[in-house]
Amino acid sequence: MIRNSPKNQKSELEERREENLKAAREAVSAAMANILISDADGNDFSSTVTNRGLFTPVHSQGRTREPIAPRLFGINLDRSLKGLHKFIDNKKILLVGGGASVQDLTSSPEFSPAVLLNVDPYTPDVPREPTPYYRSLPLDPTSENFFADLRAAGYGKFDEVWISYSVPPHSKNAGEIERLFGNLYDVLDSNGNIRDYPLAFFVQGLEGLDYQPPEKRQERLAPLRTGLSAALNTLANKDDIAMSILHTNPPDMSIKNPATLLIHKLGTTERKRLPERGAQEPYLIVEVGSGDSPFLVDAPEDYLTQFRNDPNARLIALDSDEGELDLGRERMRKKKDIRTMEAADRIEFRKAYGEQLPFENNAISELVLKNVMGDEEIFPGRKARMIDEAARTLKQGGILKIIEQYTPKEARKVDVEHYISTAVPVVFEKVEGTETAGMFDEREMDRRMLTPTQRVKPDAFILRFRKKP
Ligand SMILES: C[S@@+](CC[C@H](N)C(=O)[O-])C[C@H]1O[C@@H](n2cnc3c(N)ncnc32)[C@H](O)[C@@H]1O
Repeated sequence: MIRNSPKNQKSELEERREENLKAAREAVSAAMANILISDADGNDFSSTVTNRGLFTPVHSQGRTREPIAPRLFGINLDRSLKGLHKFIDNKKILLVGGGASVQDLTSSPEFSPAVLLNVDPYTPDVPREPTPYYRSLPLDPTSENFFADLRAAGYGKFDEVWISYSVPPHSKNAGEIERLFGNLYDVLDSNGNIRDYPLAFFVQGLEGLDYQPPEKRQERLAPLRTGLSAALNTLANKDDIAMSILHTNPPDMSIKNPATLLIHKLGTTERKRLPERGAQEPYLIVEVGSGDSPFLVDAPEDYLTQFRNDPNARLIALDSDEGELDLGRERMRKKKDIRTMEAADRIEFRKAYGEQLPFENNAISELVLKNVMGDEEIFPGRKARMIDEAARTLKQGGILKIIEQYTPKEARKVDVEHYISTAVPVVFEKVEGTETAGMFDEREMDRRMLTPTQRVKPDAFILRFRKKP
């Protein structure tokens, strides 16, 4: 029953690689859908918008230009700027091709980045109020010397790299794009993020490209596509990269396929999934059979707040049915900050079978089975193997939580307690009552889960077991 870990380690890495390659393909096709033809020749940016705000709309070139934060971070600015602090405060931020943008940030006393460095070789900055963390330098992020130039200017690695309407849209050949992403990988610190919007190609100085024969268009675009594809495939194959595409709303008037590329560099703990306990170790909650109603959807606000505020907390929701998984994801996304946490890899949805979990031994802090044991459509042998897998993948001290609301009678017949005490070759102790057993206070959560409704039966129950050393 116990699987050897190298095999599982490999499959986790392979899975991430597949996701990365998929994101790379999506990024390239978004860029190919967003071909913008500009009259400007060479590096003349005088006719483009160079002063977008981070969180404030600006009026430029005869139109109101939306702020860039919702695109880069996938957040809604309607209510307040509070959600922005976590991307900014104490972060070392590199703004690539920032021109005269984010003046709202640099003139605001609200935010406190550790560093904000704007590198732009073409568009001059504007005079700004002296801001201790801000500097702009005419360095070229597509040059072979970029890293050395940054070093010489006294900069090291960055936590956040923001790219807005700059590259690859304005890149002119494959080599530039490849060097750009290679350089950005080098300057990105672990746990850091590169955010690039929009994925597009602004083809300059080719009036009438639309009327050119397809071969002519192809000739012009092929090197750009090849460059972006090669650059992103190289990153996708790195062990410490998790790449994804964020689709943002509302629609962008100038961009057909608004998509943001997110490139996250994994921290060492994420990479190795260390089984030992430690202060900074991620607290990984895995929900098996999350279906159309993952437990977080019904969680009370206090639980969500605790989860949101703890940067170590992660949730992976699994289901064998992709359709159910999609429904659950959509419902989750209606909750505040879920998309942002997805973008930061703190919440993930994956197709997987509960009897074959894609995790190493001793990797999970909490495993939740909600309305799975009582589901009569699931064959009993499968349920037993799900419990075996929980025993294998939970850490010592980890919690197995079984919530039965819809069909508690059927669930009782399965008798998990008996199975755990007789057939599972690791020791579990039952955790009595509804006291706090996991990372957060769950009393309110339990109360809510057990409150009878049309769907929740009066004899609904929750069982918890702790895996002992
Ligand atoms: C009764 S539904 C419960 C859904 C959700 N947990 C809830 O409480 O509403 C059971 C779920 O288990 C999923 N499921 C069935 N067999 C599975 C398996 N072998 N591995 C993972 N999930 C499975 C189904 O697709 C379905 O979404």
